[in-house]
Amino acid sequence: MKPPEQIETERLLLRKPRMDDAPAVFNSWAKYPEVTRFLTWHPHQSIEQSEALMKRSIDGWDGDTNFRYLLEIKESGALAGMIELRLEKEPFKMSFGYTGAYAQWGKGYMTEAVRASIDWAFQQPDICRVYATADVENIPSQRVMEKAGMQREGLLRKESTHPNISPEPRDCYIYAVVK
Ligand SMILES: CC(C)(COP(=O)(O)OP(=O)(O)OC[C@H]1O[C@@H](n2cnc3c(N)ncnc32)[C@H](O)[C@@H]1OP(=O)(O)O)[C@@H](O)C(=O)NCCC(=O)NCCS
Repeated sequence: MKPPEQIETERLLLRKPRMDDAPAVFNSWAKYPEVTRFLTWHPHQSIEQSEALMKRSIDGWDGDTNFRYLLEIKESGALAGMIELRLEKEPFKMSFGYTGAYAQWGKGYMTEAVRASIDWAFQQPDICRVYATADVENIPSQRVMEKAGMQREGLLRKESTHPNISPEPRDCYIYAVVK
């Protein structure tokens, strides 16, 4: 089972990345410490790092587990961010992670992408649980998941390292929706 290479929403086209997306990815989010604060990776120092990310993201589509989409704003063609769908070993589960373009925060784009991802997942007969985690201090990310209809299920202590804050593993909330 693979997600489709494109998913359309009201305002967005979720599409497979291309190598020539690297400059926009770099300039829209990957270079910003403000965006990567709660993420597992450091801001990119160069477009070459974003090119490597595009390469990994494109290669992911040849596998069975990690599928990254760029969120293209239909009206302008600008990028609103990226979402990665992760199909788990257990066929009934899907998880995801996302990053939003800094200039596009707060316009509801990531909520729209998460809703579409959950909709796709629940159209698959096997998938009945979709979940994701967010740092306890990452309020915007928690809001996205709440707005997309997910419920906070609990606190995962020392769950993830977010090296832009500190080397210590950090507590995260887990959010999920089931069908
Ligand atoms: C999390 C993120 C993807 C949300 O993207 P988005 O397109 O802005 O999402 P939405 O517009 O759908 O919703 C964002 C919510 O956070 C709120 N928000 C936005 N910026 C905020 C800020 N600086 N501080 C507090 N809340 C903020 C918005 O008001 C909105 O909530 P509301 O609808 O209740 O007002 C984006 O903030 C981001 O890229 N963060 C950095 C990367 C990251 O942390 N990824 C998730 C890792 S778990």
